[in-house]
Amino acid sequence: MNEKQRLESEQITTTHSSDVKSEVDENLDRLKNMSSDELISKYFQTTYEVPDLKKARSRRKKDVDIHYDFDIAEEFRGLGQGKKFLIRTYGCQMNAHDTEVMAGILMQMGYAPTEVTEEADIILLNTCAIRENAENKVFGEIGHLKPLKLEKPDLILGVCGCMSQEESVVNRILKKHPHIDLIFGTHNIHRLPNLVSEAQFSKEMVVEVWSKEGDIIENLPKARKGKIKAWVNIMYGCDKFCTYCIVPYTRGKERSRLPEDIIQEVRHLAAQGYKEITLLGQNVNAYGKDLDIDYRLGDLMDELRKIDIPRIRFTTSHPRDFDDHLIEVLAKGGNLVDHIHLPVQSGSSDILRVMARRYTREDYLELVRKIRAAIPNVTLTTDIIVGFPNETEEQFQETLSLVEEVGFEAAYTYIYSPREGTPSARWEDNVSMEEKKERLQRLNKLVNEKSAESMKNYVGKTVKVLVEGESKKDPDVLSGYTEKSKLVNFRAPKSVIGQIVEVKIVNAKTWTLDGELVEAAVEVN
Ligand code: 5AD
Ligand code: SF4
Repeated sequence: MNEKQRLESEQITTTHSSDVKSEVDENLDRLKNMSSDELISKYFQTTYEVPDLKKARSRRKKDVDIHYDFDIAEEFRGLGQGKKFLIRTYGCQMNAHDTEVMAGILMQMGYAPTEVTEEADIILLNTCAIRENAENKVFGEIGHLKPLKLEKPDLILGVCGCMSQEESVVNRILKKHPHIDLIFGTHNIHRLPNLVSEAQFSKEMVVEVWSKEGDIIENLPKARKGKIKAWVNIMYGCDKFCTYCIVPYTRGKERSRLPEDIIQEVRHLAAQGYKEITLLGQNVNAYGKDLDIDYRLGDLMDELRKIDIPRIRFTTSHPRDFDDHLIEVLAKGGNLVDHIHLPVQSGSSDILRVMARRYTREDYLELVRKIRAAIPNVTLTTDIIVGFPNETEEQFQETLSLVEEVGFEAAYTYIYSPREGTPSARWEDNVSMEEKKERLQRLNKLVNEKSAESMKNYVGKTVKVLVEGESKKDPDVLSGYTEKSKLVNFRAPKSVIGQIVEVKIVNAKTWTLDGELVEAAVEVN
């Protein structure tokens, strides 16, 4: 299939003009005067598909095409010569890793990275849609960038990531923020060279959002941030459709990479001297379900643990798919760290049912029991949502008691945020925002206490720390993380940055530990 046929078959929406960009102001005025219907018909024609719950739910298992032939056409290679790019990343590690891919592509086009907004010739906002406040931050930034765009008409401003997969967001940008030059979706990253080129030469906003979930493209370039820790995607998308969550719509259906491609990437990173790998996926425990072979996350971890790299972690887990084989493999230890992030979301079985999490409080506790039996020293952390529609005080109390019972050492806690297009966003909700905020405070108080308790146990003990660099507060102090993801600050020569060293803990705070270097000798696993 050639590029043209492929684009047609994938319901692409691209809008561009062949004219050279000029008269930005005139363009902006013209767009401002258009009605939203005009804008939509102009920019989306009929091929733009909005996230559609019914359609998304009726996803069928279909073969995903894996491509190994990504290449940047000769015509795009010099496009960024003498120019700079800046990518602002919002949200999760998946987004941060996508940023590394986009940076890799832009650098192959000749662009150089910059951290200075005013210096950039292209600015991309890699956005997050998980909660309303994440979206508000992006819209704030879009507004801040307007004067710069008016001053520098040739600047390319792009919006990508999860928000660009939402119809309402794209409409709002078209209507209210015509100074944006480019919008592209999470399945269109590999099209960046073409899109940047189109945006550069077009008068109009270039919009390319594929509603169909993407294929897997294996050989995309990556400009990794740092040489110590690396992210490796093992799968894309999510099929769980928790009733509050926008991810299955913005990231598409579950697609697993082939084990051999993952293993090769991890081996390569080990050979380059990376010390820690985090395997990424929206629901990593579903890894392999969509493959033709009988191969799951436990099998993958069992192979990866044999690679000579000190630490391997994964995120994020779904309790429902966490199987016994995986527990058995994790119990082998070695470079598989004894920290598991296991989002529970709520301690009430009734709330879990309406969240469509497909497990009960008892199922979760049973899973925790099994994990602890196999890995007695395991550290568990979690994600919790408070104020789900109609959550009662008693149901919230069940969340508090679950936190006590499991003894989570840390938790990311959120107030429920309705996301347009998800089932729960349509439900009546009798819990006031005041009540939700109050519950969050009570939960955070307990979570902080639990964290502080676990930190106290470290005082006097020696831990292994992967040294990442200078601490944020004091350049004379270095900081790094233990296998259990505890942040440790200590004084040591800068030469230990990038190494795993032993540090004796002398003081514990709620979220961090202070220590003293035991020995500067490098510890290699
Ligand atoms: N509102 C609040 N929190 C949410 N999360 C996902 N969707 C929402 C939402 N609509 C939280 C979940 C998830 C984490 C990444 O974000 O706790 O595990
Ligand atoms: Fe969202 Fe995670 Fe549920 Fe998937 S498993 S729908 S990403 S909360």
